[in-house]
Amino acid sequence: MINYKHKYIKYKQKYLNYGCDDNMNTKFKNKSRNDIDLMIGGTMNVNLIKELGSGGNGTAYLVVRNGEKLVYKLERLDEYTEPLTSEYYRQIDFDEKIARENKDKFMILKAHGMILDCDYVQPNTGKMLAKKDEVRKERFIRKNKQPHCYFLLYSPYLDGRFRDIKREIQNNEILMIDFIYQIITSIDIMRNKGFSQNDIAYDNIMYKEINNTYEWYIIDYGNITNVKYPDSLLDKEKMKNDPTYKKTLITDIIGLIKLCVDESIYDFIKEHKIERKDNLFQEKFKESEIYKDIAQFMPESITDEKRIGMLERLATMIKYPVKYVNYIGISKEICDEYVNKQLFADLLLECLKHCNDDNYGYIINKIKMTRDGVIAKNKKNMPSPIDTDTSSAL
Ligand SMILES: Nc1ncnc2c1ncn2[C@@H]1O[C@H](COP(=O)(O)OP(=O)(O)O)[C@@H](O)[C@H]1O
Ligand SMILES: [Mg+2]
Repeated sequence: MINYKHKYIKYKQKYLNYGCDDNMNTKFKNKSRNDIDLMIGGTMNVNLIKELGSGGNGTAYLVVRNGEKLVYKLERLDEYTEPLTSEYYRQIDFDEKIARENKDKFMILKAHGMILDCDYVQPNTGKMLAKKDEVRKERFIRKNKQPHCYFLLYSPYLDGRFRDIKREIQNNEILMIDFIYQIITSIDIMRNKGFSQNDIAYDNIMYKEINNTYEWYIIDYGNITNVKYPDSLLDKEKMKNDPTYKKTLITDIIGLIKLCVDESIYDFIKEHKIERKDNLFQEKFKESEIYKDIAQFMPESITDEKRIGMLERLATMIKYPVKYVNYIGISKEICDEYVNKQLFADLLLECLKHCNDDNYGYIINKIKMTRDGVIAKNKKNMPSPIDTDTSSAL
């Protein structure tokens, strides 16, 4: 049992008038590698190998401890009035209740702790401050004014992200249905204990390759929430806009569906600096013949308009990929290679329709049956093995 409580400190200082300036970025850039080495190594006797990435919260590093590759996550400890709502606490709680019991699906904590008066500086400051979302911005500023940090040391170090092999998965029936099945199983494990990961996305799903098969992991527990402490910005905002919002299922399942749909059209748009015509899409879409068809896939229990718009778009991408591309103003010819055949379209639409149901077991069963069917079909197509050893018959 990890004892975090004695380490937990409640901060009382005010953070108003905090000047979160560009200096923060410069300070970080000027930091020599040795400084960072000291900061990390000093806490846990680990050697820093390289930086893996940093989002809006903290930074992940590849480190080695006793010859083992591990992931070291460093981040400022935000101020909270209730310890239960602390991001640090949440991730420890998640480790104890979920990850340790399911080591083949989640990373586990090898160590964690606080660094008092830590001089870590969050990169991407400018980018975060440029965001329009005032609530997130305020939180970002508050958090980066806090004096202390916390670190989490995770195992295992994984082979790659979903993003790295998404084409291979999205184009292969067996790999794709196995991926959907593994992730929905992990979502179900979390759901059963009241957890939601809230950030299922290209970079937060990773794999370990074992004899040409993929073992899928959900990583990044920074946004995790639990029914007992649903105090995340994400949840609060969504609950405010949509009284039917159920945090424990809908976000994760929609995240999973998005990974299965060929969203690379967005990469294409960015790459070619094409102007997106989303508004036009909405107007044209409402008048189109397919609108009625799409409406039948909308979850009945969801009433929030913004969310329905997002789900309608997702359903159109699944059911009518070519039309979708036309709606957003790009001709099919230009991006033919980006519009692939959609595997398991019917299954994904069904998941979409039921993503907010209490009876989510229905979806999981359906996915399991589809997976078993695909595996059986592929087995049938394989030539049966020939046993040349006749000795036992003698
Ligand atoms: N166990 C791991 N093995 C290999 N790479 C990892 C692992 N955990 C994280 N990473 C890499 O670091 C990146 C950032 O880690 P993540 O936990 O997602 O933090 P963030 O909150 O910054 O998104 C990931 O997208 C991934 O590329
Ligand atoms: Mg991440």
